[in-house]
Amino acid sequence: MLNFNYSIPTKIFFGKGQVDVLEEQIKDYGTKVLLTYGGGSIKKNGIYDRVTDILNQNNIEFYELSGIEPNPDIKSVREGVKICKDNNVDLILAIGGGSTIDCSKAIAAGYYYDGDPWDLVSKKAPVTNALPLGVVLTMSATGSEMNSGAVISNRETKQKLHIMHSNLMPKFSILDPTYTFTLPKEQTAAGIADIMSHTFESYFTLNDGAYLQDRFAEAILKTCIKYGKIAYDEAENYEAKANIMWAAPNAINGLVLCGKNAIWSVHGIAQELTAYYGLTHGVALAILTPVWMEYVLDDERVDKFAEYGVNVWGIDPNKDKYEIAKEAIEKTSEFFTSIGLPKSLREVGIGEENLEKMAQAAIDDKGGVIGNFKPLYYDDVLEILRRAL
Ligand code: NZQ
Ligand code: ZN
Repeated sequence: MLNFNYSIPTKIFFGKGQVDVLEEQIKDYGTKVLLTYGGGSIKKNGIYDRVTDILNQNNIEFYELSGIEPNPDIKSVREGVKICKDNNVDLILAIGGGSTIDCSKAIAAGYYYDGDPWDLVSKKAPVTNALPLGVVLTMSATGSEMNSGAVISNRETKQKLHIMHSNLMPKFSILDPTYTFTLPKEQTAAGIADIMSHTFESYFTLNDGAYLQDRFAEAILKTCIKYGKIAYDEAENYEAKANIMWAAPNAINGLVLCGKNAIWSVHGIAQELTAYYGLTHGVALAILTPVWMEYVLDDERVDKFAEYGVNVWGIDPNKDKYEIAKEAIEKTSEFFTSIGLPKSLREVGIGEENLEKMAQAAIDDKGGVIGNFKPLYYDDVLEILRRAL
């Protein structure tokens, strides 16, 4: 196991009715808040009313940035930074899923930067400081509620890039599973694929001796498998939604990654499908993951896939290890299909037209090579995209 430092300063308030802590939590940071949210789901399901009631009752002055798009665009970040600077905001309160939270993180960092916030995303300038951020989560997927990353798109340049800084960790996050009851089925499914993919990205490494982390990872995967279909079929099943909601941050808050040398693979390819076609993040991952698994399966990696098959899917360990590996990949694919996720790019209307460009962009963004379980170069990425058609 490699050396690691582990610190998660985000306070988590989990469960029904936990939004009541908002009053106390906000007071630690000041009296002027920027509320950020997406296209309006929080107005339909009552979350907006509940939060603004709390703010009004406590004389907390608030400004609003609404309409943050899925795969948040730098334009929304710019708008948010302006509101914060014009009004000397003390805290950003993001209500929503990964897109709203990520946009808010970029705004938080942009507040302390004099130039265009895209410089921070494109790494032209470093993130130095950030406004404090609180989260009311409405969707289980990205784990952005408990990590230091944000992914921002620039639709003009067809780029989707990642920033990371410890100052971007939310100060507190409120996770009420009932807030996910109104989530459309397709988003529930995409979120589950995302959680599983984050776990896979850390789990699939070679011989790192991080035994405990891999057992944590398997528990997260088994939780997604046990409750995924229930959460998909029964929007208001509290137990299922609660387990999925707690799986999400744990898949990406460092728990399963620390002590391991895992450089992610599938996410680097998936982000190009979103940059080029606006494909939902979790849908891209669900299509690519089984294809990637089959592509990288070889003598060096078969033991890890067999471990996955036996420990996660309960496949008979006495079978041939290649047989176990292939069965595990098949079961992964079938699981995604069982929650309504597509299996191929053609199913979502994507053809051959941009495969080369996307493969090149994916490679360029990662300095020429993606991942380290099996390092992927241009030809590998292109082949994976072709097989995903
Ligand atoms: O915009 P509204 O109207 O709120 O609707 C949203 C949106 O259309 C809807 N929704 C969310 N909660 C709802 C709801 N609808 C009804 N009821 C609710 N309770 O769901 C749609 C999708 O929301 P979005 O926030 O885009 O989804 P998600 O949480 O999957 O976030 C995706 C973004 O996060 C990035 C992705 O790349 C993508 O840009 N990621 C962020 C990561 C991170 N920060 O660590 C890691 C991930 O790998 C990922 O890349
Ligand atoms: Zn993801």
